[in-house]
Amino acid sequence: MLFWRVKPLDKILETAGKKALTRQLGAFQLTMLGIGAVIGTGIFVLTAEAGQKAGPAMMIAFVIAAVVCGLAALAYAELASMVPVSGSAYTYTYGVLGEALAWIVGWALVLEYAVAAGAVSVGWSGYMNGLLMHTNLFGLVEPGSLALPRWLRTGPYDGGTFNILACFIALVVTWLLVIGTSKSAKVNAVLVSIKVAALVAFIAISLPAVQSENFEPFFPTGWGSPMGGIGVLGAAASIFFAYVGFDAVSTASEETKDPNRNIPIGLIGSLLICTIFYLLVGYGAVGAAGSAPMFGADGIVLSPGTPEMAAACLGSDALVCSKEPLAHVMRMIGFGGVGNMIGLAAALALPSVVLMMIYGQTRIFFTMSRDGLLPEVLSRVHPRYHTPHVVTIITGVFVALFGAMFPVGILADISNSGTLFAFIMVSIGVLILRKSQPDRHRPFRTPLVWVVCPLAIAGCLLLFVNLSLYTISLFFIWAAIGLVVYRFYGYRHSDLGRGITGPEGGVVPPPEPKFHEGPQA
Ligand code: ALA
Repeated sequence: MLFWRVKPLDKILETAGKKALTRQLGAFQLTMLGIGAVIGTGIFVLTAEAGQKAGPAMMIAFVIAAVVCGLAALAYAELASMVPVSGSAYTYTYGVLGEALAWIVGWALVLEYAVAAGAVSVGWSGYMNGLLMHTNLFGLVEPGSLALPRWLRTGPYDGGTFNILACFIALVVTWLLVIGTSKSAKVNAVLVSIKVAALVAFIAISLPAVQSENFEPFFPTGWGSPMGGIGVLGAAASIFFAYVGFDAVSTASEETKDPNRNIPIGLIGSLLICTIFYLLVGYGAVGAAGSAPMFGADGIVLSPGTPEMAAACLGSDALVCSKEPLAHVMRMIGFGGVGNMIGLAAALALPSVVLMMIYGQTRIFFTMSRDGLLPEVLSRVHPRYHTPHVVTIITGVFVALFGAMFPVGILADISNSGTLFAFIMVSIGVLILRKSQPDRHRPFRTPLVWVVCPLAIAGCLLLFVNLSLYTISLFFIWAAIGLVVYRFYGYRHSDLGRGITGPEGGVVPPPEPKFHEGPQA
């Protein structure tokens, strides 16, 4: 069952070649794309959640999440360079572990991309609401007079009713994507610069304000326990979200010039740059403002994104309660103007992350539909804009609803569960291919593969089990629904299953180790 209906990698490359999207992205654009997808709600917003879960020890959580992501990025880079086509982990799994598992991965990637886009939309709305609350529009209005009513600021689990701004931004971004990738990618490059400038300003101002007593006690909630979603490991499992997105680079392979060189550069480069930023920002935020967690009356630390936490935070100006923590830190240390500027930068830049997430999602759906696993209508390309508009609009509407209804932390954790699963599958895939097709040309080879990939798998598993029980249960329910859909739709309509792309007109047997397409890198 496991290796059944495997789509040979050469067949995948051939299919992609026939219906390829225009190749227009280079190494620099890809790195920008990666940074655009990676720096976002994680660092701008989830810093508060991580503080609530781990206190100052969230610094360690940042490092743990970065190491796990770095290991997974090395595995991703090998497969992305070998199979430079759209579809990310879904495509790789199809080529290595077969259709059923590929389906599950594609299904899990909906969590990674669409749910993540919802989380970032909520993050955007937090900063936008903060701006509306604090701005006086250069003296034209009283501060606070532009603020939205509370029920329109957050979803029902977070003290409000309908997060209207999160819904709004998801729909705007969807429209941008429908009218064309290249235009959107240019907008993305400008927004990435704004985002990086905001983080640099934050670091420059917060570091001199760091006070050593803000790091005491360093471990207020301990390491955490499996399925507890709290403590250092719980925080790492959440803050992992801050690193998610670099693999969106690999989903753009089909639109990349010289992908064999540029994809690995884009993946590793963007992850490295982001890690350095995060450590500096985390240190500055904790050191300058403190990150003492909120505890319930029973002495147990409260979980972020719950009504109890929302109630405890009413009227509090603790960092862990803020929906716009970086701007909040600036205000706390007397730089209110800079805080507003950072808020403005986040409000301008976070949409680029939403854009990359919805983009990644639509390309995965597009590829699954091209393989016959989803209805053909999803791979329709707009005659004028040349974008997969149908799937983009459907995805965008769902993202808008997720954003309107759920708190950022919950969405981020659910997204992480899907991502961690996909990373595990990719790492397994790399190892299997090293055994089954040792001579296949690998433009990028994962160094110390038999150490790096098992560590990536172990690291992803560690983070996965440290998500909350609620999140883990949702993941398995989602996977079970996916299996039912596969059994009744994908299984029957699969091009591969119906012999449409198979070389012998039937189900394709597992590939033999017979390839040698060039010198080993
Ligand atoms: N890494 C992205 C963010 O933090 C998803 O917003």
